Amino acid sequence: MQLHQLFCRFTERTEPGEEEAFGYAFEKIVLFAETIGVGTTWIAGTMDRSGFERAVKLNEDEVMPCVSPLGYEAKKMSLRETMMRKGVKADTRLPFASLFFDGTFDTPLSESKASTLKNALEAVRFAPSAVNKQPWRIVLCGNKVHFFEKHNRKDTSDGRWDVQKIDMGIALCHFELAAKEAGQNVVFEINDPHLPAPADTEYIASFVIHQA
Ligand SMILES: Cc1cc2nc3c(=O)[nH]c(=O)nc-3n(C[C@H](O)[C@H](O)[C@H](O)COP(=O)(O)O)c2cc1C
Repeated sequence: MQLHQLFCRFTERTEPGEEEAFGYAFEKIVLFAETIGVGTTWIAGTMDRSGFERAVKLNEDEVMPCVSPLGYEAKKMSLRETMMRKGVKADTRLPFASLFFDGTFDTPLSESKASTLKNALEAVRFAPSAVNKQPWRIVLCGNKVHFFEKHNRKDTSDGRWDVQKIDMGIALCHFELAAKEAGQNVVFEINDPHLPAPADTEYIASFVIHQA
């Protein structure tokens, strides 16, 4: 396979939801690579962006938000990587009750109430995100699971795209895969429930859980 085939691109500013779609699709490639023992890492910032864009012969109306190297993991992390991971607390995640809510943003969701969705929510919680900011917030309302983006980064790559929407696509991917793995019948929809939400928190999409 040629290196350039491993890049995903999308056409600039045509459709709402394209960053999420990019994150969702790219994460499926990443997870597949991991299942066959190939190491990956999402990279949006720490690369020679113009060099990569030249290498993939990016058209003027296209953007290439992220790349991933593919290869076998080094046995030992470099000092640089160790320091960078420390800087973003890469080995930790926000607690369940800070990310997931029961009916309204005022009520944290307990793990027992999450019940059969607990593993799917944990799969979201452990997902990778740019600078480990974990922008996903989820409100469970009956049989609907609403995903929101908590905007907590200012730098969104020249304003050309919102890297946290790419994180949201990753979260949607993790939830869907884990829920389906657990035998849940989940259907994607974009249907804003217009819930009162904290500042800088934007509705993204939902999954509806149907009886399996
Ligand atoms: C959209 C996105 C962009 C990222 N960009 C970079 C990057 O430029 N450089 C880097 O070293 N890691 C990058 N990461 C990796 C995150 O820093 C990492 O996922 C996070 O710190 C959590 O660590 P973990 O995935 O190893 O658990 C990125 C991750 C995502 C999802």
